[in-house]
Amino acid sequence: MRGKLRFGILGCGMVSVYHINAVLSNPDAELYGVCDSSFENTLKTAAVYGVKAYNNYKEMLDDELIDVVCVCTPSGFHAQNTLSALNAGKHVIIEKPMALNVEDADAIVSLSEKTGKIVSVISQLRFTDCYAAINSALQRGDFGKIILADISMKYHRSKEYYSGSSWRGTWKLDGGGALMNQGIHSIDLIISLLGNVNRTFAFCRTLSHKIEVEDTATAVLEFESGAVGSIQASTACFPGYSRRFEICGDKGSVVFSDENIISWDLPGEMPQVSHSYCSSSSDPRAIGNENHIKQINDIVAAIKEDRPPLIDAIQGRKPVSLICAMYQSSVTGKPVDIKM
Ligand SMILES: NC(=O)c1ccc[n+]([C@@H]2O[C@H](COP(=O)([O-])OP(=O)(O)OC[C@H]3O[C@@H](n4cnc5c(N)ncnc54)[C@H](O)[C@@H]3O)[C@@H](O)[C@H]2O)c1
Repeated sequence: MRGKLRFGILGCGMVSVYHINAVLSNPDAELYGVCDSSFENTLKTAAVYGVKAYNNYKEMLDDELIDVVCVCTPSGFHAQNTLSALNAGKHVIIEKPMALNVEDADAIVSLSEKTGKIVSVISQLRFTDCYAAINSALQRGDFGKIILADISMKYHRSKEYYSGSSWRGTWKLDGGGALMNQGIHSIDLIISLLGNVNRTFAFCRTLSHKIEVEDTATAVLEFESGAVGSIQASTACFPGYSRRFEICGDKGSVVFSDENIISWDLPGEMPQVSHSYCSSSSDPRAIGNENHIKQINDIVAAIKEDRPPLIDAIQGRKPVSLICAMYQSSVTGKPVDIKM
């Protein structure tokens, strides 16, 4: 493989900056070009970083010099944008959620296998020290048998957060609300820590915001392991609280909030993890860049070493399948079985 991997960024909005900073900080990566459906945005971003401005996505995909595409468009475009990039022979980094339904997620998994190109879905919370410490304790069996897991995401988003965007809060382009947009981070975390979920029962409601999708949801879960759990997610709880996890086993338990460990009732001292003072509980822009940098470093290394990234397409599909099952349960009023 030639020297640096050349990156193209699709969608030059809020989250694209996190990708751009990650690419710029990686010595094996080069920011090569950008593209947005608004050519004005494309030109502005290209000028800031001194990179190529593509007239449209096809032109970026036709450029043989691009190795990796970062899909940073509104969520409803992720699946189609990713399939097009794979068909053009590119590796793809997709912002969460990978797709808005299981059929599209499956199409990405199979095309990624067929083309041999790497697909990774952003879930940057898997790269925190806090996650690593808890995952190691789980692998060592320090919790004993896992009994209960709870996630609380009582966030707040302003009216302007939804009214100022053409896509947020819509089924077609956001694909859901407190679960599919905000909650997916924590849902991915709990699946990766505790394993697949077999079944869920959920209430999804729109209680405060004038949007199509849910601003509030509560769900119960049954894990394959036999453990049970619950999820509460909202974007309507003023003023918004940090996300909180409680994972309880019959030999030990932890509580953590954002990236900080609150209680460590496990063998040994509480690990010293780097604390975070960023919380997106009431401000979606209050996320640090370090975890995107770590994930994109892993993806660059995976491409160079010809190995899967830590979060591949199969894993990106899992939270989508659970969230879609929650939506189905809420509509039907019945528990839904899940195939992960
Ligand atoms: N990982 C995270 O913590 C995180 C944080 C924020 C957003 N996101 C995800 O990133 C994605 C984008 O969110 P955002 O906050 O940057 O949105 P945004 O509205 O700020 O930016 C989206 C950009 O995409 C452009 N665009 C729209 N349709 C396009 C198309 N078809 N082709 C090319 N460009 C198009 C828009 O003009 C805009 O510049 C969403 O899927 C969101 O869920 C992830």
